[in-house]
Amino acid sequence: MVPLKRRKVVPSLTGSTGSNSSGAEASNRFPQVVLFLLERKMGASRRAFLSLLGRKKGFQVEEVFSGGVTHLISENNCGDEVRAWLDSQVRGRGWTPAHLLDISWYTESVGAGHPVEILDRHKLQEQQRRGAEFVMFSVPSYACQRRTSLDNRNAVLTDALSLLADNAELSGDEGRGVAFRRAAAVLKALPKPVTDTTQLRGLPCLGEHSLRVIKDILEDGASDEVESTRRSERYKALKVLTGVFGVGVKTADRWIREGIRDLQRLRDSGPALNRAQQAGLQHYDDLNQPVTRAEADAIAEIVERAVASVLPGAQTTLTGGFRRGKLTGHDVDFLITHPEEGREEGLVPKVVSWLESEGVLLYQKTARNSYLEGRDGPGRPSSSMDRFETCFSIFKLPREEKRGAGQTHGAACGPEAGHKPWRAVRVDLVVSPVSQFAFALLGWTGSKLFERELRRWARHEKAMSLSSHALYDNKQRRYLRAASEEEIFAHLGLEFIPPSERNA
Ligand code: UTP
Ligand code: MN
Repeated sequence: MVPLKRRKVVPSLTGSTGSNSSGAEASNRFPQVVLFLLERKMGASRRAFLSLLGRKKGFQVEEVFSGGVTHLISENNCGDEVRAWLDSQVRGRGWTPAHLLDISWYTESVGAGHPVEILDRHKLQEQQRRGAEFVMFSVPSYACQRRTSLDNRNAVLTDALSLLADNAELSGDEGRGVAFRRAAAVLKALPKPVTDTTQLRGLPCLGEHSLRVIKDILEDGASDEVESTRRSERYKALKVLTGVFGVGVKTADRWIREGIRDLQRLRDSGPALNRAQQAGLQHYDDLNQPVTRAEADAIAEIVERAVASVLPGAQTTLTGGFRRGKLTGHDVDFLITHPEEGREEGLVPKVVSWLESEGVLLYQKTARNSYLEGRDGPGRPSSSMDRFETCFSIFKLPREEKRGAGQTHGAACGPEAGHKPWRAVRVDLVVSPVSQFAFALLGWTGSKLFERELRRWARHEKAMSLSSHALYDNKQRRYLRAASEEEIFAHLGLEFIPPSERNA
């Protein structure tokens, strides 16, 4: 401890801390700000001069570095050089001042007579951030403005939010469901795992509820709300029942109220099931087992053969999750068109006949094309129901070891080792006129949230209506044509996002 008497006479440059008591200096006017000027590259005499200037204006400028310094000022040093210097310190070891700043902040503050606001240009850029500090994220608010690959660094958090979204949707609360999905989608777009809630500041779409769930998981490892929902009888029953192909939320809810909570009860007590539900129940296990990419490819081969034989020249494109690069899916989606407009009409019934004659179909339901631009145009397009010729079906796919050239008759092979030689797979076929192909391709590639966000962007930011059929400009009162997905993104004023980055 330096005796008080001496401290008064020793000039501030000699090394004591709290040295602003020298008669030549104003008293410490900014107690929250403890400065330290780095001598490195600045030089001792310039440092002494600048320190004195600051003290005269009432700043607390420390002579020796120690824990407690809030602002470290340097000149001509980059962030990493300052970091290396900090690491080399014996005193104040491990201490990182809140602000690592360039000399410009100091001279401006001294000039102003008070600490000026810290702007980006004042901050030293560091290549490598340290443990105590967190990477901050910034993402645009619409999912269609962002790239979301399959490499999700925040799966624990997004799984939890998705479960709450499922639960909200199963309870008929679509709005809350979308809110959770948007929150999950923001986390999916982050390049790194979130480790601290401070990193979420400024991120879009994170409502109070989602933030609370994230905080609970980050701090306690789990969220009570998520875990109790996961365990709740109602949630489990809704999951099982809506897992039956053809069963929606309303039907499942009604059954639960009638006391039907599992498949056994559904089979036994036998409420009237429609054709889709019967097939769904019959093939429940198969349809709830993920479809692999190899199975999707095998199905693509069958569909291509069917299409080629009933309409030569028609083109088949794999869409849905597999087009986005997913390794598994709940179904396989195809979009079919023909380069000559009109030739595609009536294709679905012909393809279905071919598939049936080959014994490929376990179930199918087709719909005719009901889209008419004049009628369904501007008023309707944002509806998610499209009006293409479609076939929602269940394929009977021979097991891998049974799949050989020309072998689609899986049923012809006898059962082996107790399990049947084929499996049921959900397949959606959609036929589009070539003039609508780009819109259909964009609309059927997904993800569902990405599609929803594209439509929301079109409506709110561009005054346009987007559907899987067309894009309508409400201000110009005309349709905007497009022959490729790229052109649609351009019409919407969006950067093109390739399918593999639409996994929002
Ligand atoms: P899917 O439900 O098949 O989702 O719809 P997915 O992304 O392929 O995921 P998995 O792997 O099968 O689970 C694919 C796309 O088709 C659109 C959806 O909006 C989604 O973008 N779609 C689906 C429609 O436009 N209409 C429908 O009736 C069904
Ligand atoms: Mn799909």
